[in-house]
Amino acid sequence: MRISRVLMKCVSAANLTRQIEYYSRFSPSPLSIKQLIDFGADACEQTSFAFLRHEMPVRMANIMKEINLLPSPLLQTPSVQLVYSWFSRSFTELLKYQNTNENDENILKSFTKTLVGIRNRHNDVVPTMAQGVLQFKAHGMEPLNNQNVQYFLDRFYMSRISFRMLINHHTLLFDDSKRPAHSRHIGSIDPSCDAVQIVKAQDKDEPFRVVYIPSHLHHMLFELFKNAMRATVEHHTKLGSTYPPLNVLVILGKEDLTIKISDRGGGVPLRKIDLLFDYMYSTAPPPHEQRARAAPLAGFGYGLPISRLYARYFQGELNLLSLEGFGTDAFIYLKALSSESVERLPVFNRTAFRNYMDQPGADDWCAPSREPRNVGITWHP
Ligand SMILES: Nc1ncnc2c1ncn2[C@@H]1O[C@H](COP(=O)(O)OP(=O)(O)OP(=O)(O)O)[C@@H](O)[C@H]1O
Ligand SMILES: [Mg+2]
Repeated sequence: MRISRVLMKCVSAANLTRQIEYYSRFSPSPLSIKQLIDFGADACEQTSFAFLRHEMPVRMANIMKEINLLPSPLLQTPSVQLVYSWFSRSFTELLKYQNTNENDENILKSFTKTLVGIRNRHNDVVPTMAQGVLQFKAHGMEPLNNQNVQYFLDRFYMSRISFRMLINHHTLLFDDSKRPAHSRHIGSIDPSCDAVQIVKAQDKDEPFRVVYIPSHLHHMLFELFKNAMRATVEHHTKLGSTYPPLNVLVILGKEDLTIKISDRGGGVPLRKIDLLFDYMYSTAPPPHEQRARAAPLAGFGYGLPISRLYARYFQGELNLLSLEGFGTDAFIYLKALSSESVERLPVFNRTAFRNYMDQPGADDWCAPSREPRNVGITWHP
């Protein structure tokens, strides 16, 4: 009895590996906001079902292949194993719909329920993965591993943003119990998203409207405001002066919608700017584990890298320019046209594979020595 159960487990594990292999050979199909909105306007549940039942396993399999390439001490942490088990379960659940009839109401209902279940199962992916990386780091992570992990996390979280986008869009369109937050919304998209309103500018300001996902813009602004306010409070408390206000500028051009948030929080030296986008880099006190679960993005150092992913997800960007000793300007760039806002998705291929394997070559720029070398020259100023 026990032997047959063990055997069954082996067979299903082998089958799972085979299915991941199969689906990972497909490239994900990026959608533009325009496509999502056109589809949502005359939404057909069967079409969405037929697309998602293939596309979701493809996106999942592509990223599962990369999880398996993580350095073994990270891959073997209980946290990463837990995350992988969620993926395996969700992937297997999706495969059940491959040869089902899209005209059967019950199948469509059960599929939507499955998607909601997947979204709930994956709720804690960010803090759980973060715990795994922290454990790995505590063991002593090589710089090359750090580079691989940063590369992986960018792709992994981007792929997660995309699952949630697809799931939210489908469930908001077809789950009767879920109505969009606003009557003009199409699924999770606001075809007339007023960036100024989200920035909470004065009413008299002119609205700047784009087709966008309000929750994504809200996420980026929340994180940038949080950083700017913390820098302002810390810097000016030290100086004993009053807190200067933040300035926000929203500009709509032909190609870009740009939002600039300026603070006078003392800035960051240029040398550190790239480091701020590292997962795990933070000067905030480390989060308490319990608190981190309740509010996943508090003090992990994930604010900037995840916000940049939201911006890049639809071909935008997020940059910081700083004047050390004075303050920082944070820029969010979004595409003004919904046809240009196309999902940016990781694909598992040979180039991606090499990124996990390559040994770093020698730098092709001379590294400056830390201390000026004594070469026997005497300066006479
Ligand atoms: N506007 C800013 N001015 C000065 N320093 C900043 C600013 N924004 C970010 N930083 C620095 O960059 C670090 C990383 O920022 P990030 O938002 O990624 O993480 P965090 O704020 O530390 O934690 P979390 O956002 O997860 O709560 C901060 O700890 C802070 O040192
Ligand atoms: Mg932050």
